[in-house]
Amino acid sequence: MVGVLVITAVWAMLPAYIPNNIAVVGGGSRPIDGGRTWAGRRILGDGKTWRGTVVGIAGGFLLALGLNSINESVSAVVGVKLPVFSLGAAIGLATGAMAGDIGASFLKRRSGRERGASFPGLDQLDFVIGALCLAALVASDWFATVFTLDIIAVVVVLTPLFHVATNVLAYGVGLKAEPW
Ligand code: CTP
Ligand code: MG
Repeated sequence: MVGVLVITAVWAMLPAYIPNNIAVVGGGSRPIDGGRTWAGRRILGDGKTWRGTVVGIAGGFLLALGLNSINESVSAVVGVKLPVFSLGAAIGLATGAMAGDIGASFLKRRSGRERGASFPGLDQLDFVIGALCLAALVASDWFATVFTLDIIAVVVVLTPLFHVATNVLAYGVGLKAEPW
């Protein structure tokens, strides 16, 4: 049933969805690249900071633990056996999401896009690719059980829609400088 797939996919991806949003709120200060450039362009840019990265990863990790603690009651309410996050899964999803976002900034700078410029496609899926790859790497058994091909398909289709919606919202309330 599609409903079960969507609920499971969203639950399993929440620790990967939240780090970028937390970074927007908690970010700032020292950029990871220290202002350094490569071939005349910033390596990452001022939009990727140590503080944003650390609070983003910590937020995603803590969210996974929080979801574990309410797993049984939520599973009972929605009538779906929701996945429990292993420690590796929690770390992999949160860290991978931030790494994917940082990787995207690296590619944006190499292609001449300034901080904040949009890169349609990459902007919406960078953190998904990072989260799934790192989770598969550090929590392979967990990943193989939870992220079946149909779940991955739902994630790849739904995430860009969620991402666009939350960023437009963050822009609307003045948290983000651009609506992407
Ligand atoms: N942020 C951060 N550290 C991160 C990711 C995000 O501090 N690792 C904060 C920054 O304040 C950033 C904001 O969240 O400006 C929005 O994130 P994002 O849209 O990913 O960055 P941009 O400023 O748009 O820069 P880029 O073009 O490199 O994506
Ligand atoms: Mg941006």
